[in-house]
Amino acid sequence: MDRLEKHTILLRGDSPQDVKTAGEILRRGGLVAIPTETVYGLAANALDGAAVKAIYQAKGRPSDNPLIVHICDLSQLPPLVRQLPESAKKLAAAFWPGPLTIILKKSDLVPRETSGGLDTVAVRFPAHPVAQAVIREAGLPLAAPSANLSGKPSPTTFAHVREDLTGRVDALLDGGDCAVGVESTVLTLAEGTPRVLRPGGVTVGQLREVLGEVEVDPAVVHRLEEGAKAASPGMKYKHYAPQANVVILDASPEDYRNYVNQQPEAFALCYDEDGDRLTVPFVSYGSRYDHEKQAHMLFTSLHHLDEIGARTVFARMPQKRGVGLAVYNRLIRAAGFQILRPRKALTVGLVGPTGAGKSTVGKLLQQRGCAVIDCDALTRDPQVYDGDCLKELQAAFGADVAAGGVLDRALLARRAFATPEGRKVLGDITFPRIARRLLELRRQAEDQGALAVVLDAPTLFEAGLDDSCARILAVTAPEEVRLERIRKRDGLSEEAARLRMGAQKPESFYTQRADSVVDTREGRGLEALVAPLLEDWLPGEEERCL
Ligand code: TXA
Ligand code: MG
Repeated sequence: MDRLEKHTILLRGDSPQDVKTAGEILRRGGLVAIPTETVYGLAANALDGAAVKAIYQAKGRPSDNPLIVHICDLSQLPPLVRQLPESAKKLAAAFWPGPLTIILKKSDLVPRETSGGLDTVAVRFPAHPVAQAVIREAGLPLAAPSANLSGKPSPTTFAHVREDLTGRVDALLDGGDCAVGVESTVLTLAEGTPRVLRPGGVTVGQLREVLGEVEVDPAVVHRLEEGAKAASPGMKYKHYAPQANVVILDASPEDYRNYVNQQPEAFALCYDEDGDRLTVPFVSYGSRYDHEKQAHMLFTSLHHLDEIGARTVFARMPQKRGVGLAVYNRLIRAAGFQILRPRKALTVGLVGPTGAGKSTVGKLLQQRGCAVIDCDALTRDPQVYDGDCLKELQAAFGADVAAGGVLDRALLARRAFATPEGRKVLGDITFPRIARRLLELRRQAEDQGALAVVLDAPTLFEAGLDDSCARILAVTAPEEVRLERIRKRDGLSEEAARLRMGAQKPESFYTQRADSVVDTREGRGLEALVAPLLEDWLPGEEERCL
């Protein structure tokens, strides 16, 4: 894009004098890039149509894409809007200052340039002290889109702002790196049920805690159809795109590695857990389960991949819950909605503490077309104990453990579990065979067209089976409910049941690692909880299967 060849001055956020200068420039109708806790913003006086027009020009942004108005005090809100619903007040109390943008019907004070011609206005009270100080100095609400050239990833470091905007705006204010790293959550209160138009640092779950019912706009996770009207105009534009061609793989860690390692000149955008076994250059952006860290690192990582010359990048599919939904939303746009799945059906790990209702959920999934493999039962599968296996067991533990070719399980267990070495030898003989059998069953299920292959494995993580899973589904129930179920099921006293529960991993061990959590407490429709899971596991319209 051509340069506007403006003289751009560099200012420091930690200098009160520089913040004052920024305020003066803004009052005169100029443009200043400012730090916020989400991403850098390119600010102008929100109430001055001409100043706002200059933002669109500097960014090369289509003029029908409205801007967010930033305030530093709640008293600035009422003049901007036609009316202030109770729900907006509740949200402000709960999440402001912070990464939440609220859309309301606008007042006449807001010029059409700021609202992109809509009759609504988006308002946000940022938490960053420098952003607040600049708004205060300017004495004005500030319109500010992300401070990138239109279509490029949003800047989360000062270096990225300089790269995009030097020569195009009046001043750049350095406030260091942005903490959140993805743009704010955008929520509309302007029509019917509150609806999330863009996920961000404030999660859908948090919003539901305050508002009750909250919808998620379909455009958050799907490509808008050609010509469809976007609730948030920003969602229809190609966005967040690095120079590299990014493709998301909807795959288990194992399938992801196997695929990426075979691609010529591939780069990987992966999680910390993946790096070890990749043979291609990679950028990891946090643990798979640490969505906040991923959000913080995503745009920087996309920039980094461009810097190291990546042309083709294979990214692992993010988890779509909590702040992970924001990561996914940005990544599918960076990927231009290209998603590949290397297996016919996803493999799903089914986990949860005892008494949570795992088998009930498993049955339901089976009725809905999934194949469920009981991994515990596999340790007793006759196919595992073939002639060769029995011979090896006899050699290790005595001929009588399989006299006449019939395995004496009790004797084998007594001998093998007597010493740690015995336990290890038993594992060395049986685990590879169990694993092979598991793969065989999975292949059969895939060939028979299972919607997903569900591994019901109480020790999924301990056995390393999570490496084969593209999704983890955790089943939970409140402790008292689980206690009752265990007592009934196994005829235990309360004390014995509590002891058994205490000996196991806590529920949080599973929920922290899960892509989805199903709570089976009484009186809740399991069917309704399971339906969206199946939708997530089936390939989407934009998804290609190998
Ligand atoms: O975190 C953020 O929100 C950052 C920082 C700088 O505050 N700002 C930001 O602005 O991301 P921008 O312009 O890049 O994204 C604003 C999004 C766009 O998708 C836009 O279409 C949508 O919000 N939006 C703004 N006003 C709207 C309105 N009245 N109705 C619907 N969508 C609106
Ligand atoms: Mg933007």
